Amino acid sequence: MLISKELENAINQQIGAEFAASFQYVSIASYFDADDLPQLAAFFYRQGNEEHMHAMKFQHFLIDAGAQVRIPAISETKYDFNSAEECAQLALDWETEVTRLINGLMDIAVKDRNYIAQQFLNWFVTEQLEEIATMNTLLNTIRRAGSNLLWVEDYLARNPIAAPSTGAEAA
Ligand SMILES: [Fe+2]
Ligand SMILES: [Fe+2]
Repeated sequence: MLISKELENAINQQIGAEFAASFQYVSIASYFDADDLPQLAAFFYRQGNEEHMHAMKFQHFLIDAGAQVRIPAISETKYDFNSAEECAQLALDWETEVTRLINGLMDIAVKDRNYIAQQFLNWFVTEQLEEIATMNTLLNTIRRAGSNLLWVEDYLARNPIAAPSTGAEAA
């Protein structure tokens, strides 16, 4: 096995966190979709797909490293929301937490002097910068629009702030 038991366990937990994020974003997309806000819905469906891709990227890494995949239980998503701002704030909080978790994985890889794992995790470190920036932009756009979410719909239609994931990075 190319990684320590400690890193194997932590990555399995991370797979759970990525799937949990995926499910949470599908829940948020559903809230917008049911409210006839297709651009906001599409944004979160895309994010949900991206998180699924992240989970699979970790899963493939465990296989390649000769480690065991043990997907943990995923807790229930939040599905009742009072505003778009609440949704964007929740997403930003999620991304902040995921960034902390990725840093924790890197801490283990550094402690283990595992350069293969560090190289693999670097992709996620860079990805989190993009994710945090994207969610900050969405939150700011929603706040600026105030009570009229059609401004946000128009903004997203003209400036997709998260490009559709091609999945090409996942291989
Ligand atoms: Fe992710
Ligand atoms: Fe993310």
